[in-house]
Amino acid sequence: MTEQLTAAATDAFTLSPEVMDQLFFEARSANSFSEEPVSDQVLDAIYQATKMGPTLMNNQPLRISWIKSDEARRAVASTMAGPNAAKALAAPALAVLSFDPDWHEEFEFFFPHAAERKAMFEEPGMRAAVGGNNAWLQAGYFMMAVRAAGLAVGPMGGFDSAALDEAINAETGHKSFLIVNVGKPGPNPWFDRLPRHDADFAVRSL
Ligand SMILES: Cc1cc2nc3c(=O)[nH]c(=O)nc-3n(C[C@H](O)[C@H](O)[C@H](O)COP(=O)(O)O)c2cc1C
Repeated sequence: MTEQLTAAATDAFTLSPEVMDQLFFEARSANSFSEEPVSDQVLDAIYQATKMGPTLMNNQPLRISWIKSDEARRAVASTMAGPNAAKALAAPALAVLSFDPDWHEEFEFFFPHAAERKAMFEEPGMRAAVGGNNAWLQAGYFMMAVRAAGLAVGPMGGFDSAALDEAINAETGHKSFLIVNVGKPGPNPWFDRLPRHDADFAVRSL
């Protein structure tokens, strides 16, 4: 396991050091990918794990579009500049993560014991904020699920979400917020690791 970890932290984790490395310490954001395809079985497994992460009132606003046709891939890449576009065109699997701004319509499904609480989310601005926040949470679960499947993620926030929504979300009304390249890393896939805040900086006890 990584040298950054104290012995006490190493002992604290109940997963094996190899698994912790795969999920956290050695996992990197990939900038290039091999040509090895990702099977539909693996894409399905990624969602099966993603959906189990906790969300507010179990609301699950994340909607995932796996971009499979060349036409759709070109449409996604056309909303990005420079290196991001090239990465989206080359990745073995490409996901657009969006959220449903009307996620509350599914209340009877996801919160059946208190479905009347849908009324709390009538105001569209507040509802969209809650949907966006919880879809971002789910994006984190999604990226960890990709890593658990032995693959790398290349998340990209640099794109024109309005243009992408016009291209692929016009029928659904969903709002795109993150594009994720998925696959086995290719040649020279990593930039240098950037520093992470120590607990002294980012954590306090009250
Ligand atoms: C929300 C989000 C948006 C990002 N947007 C971009 C992007 O537009 N282009 C890019 O090359 N990398 C992008 N990244 C990658 C980050 O720069 C990278 O995850 C971070 O530097 C940590 O790298 P590491 O996982 O290799 O340590 C993004 C990552 C996240 C999580």
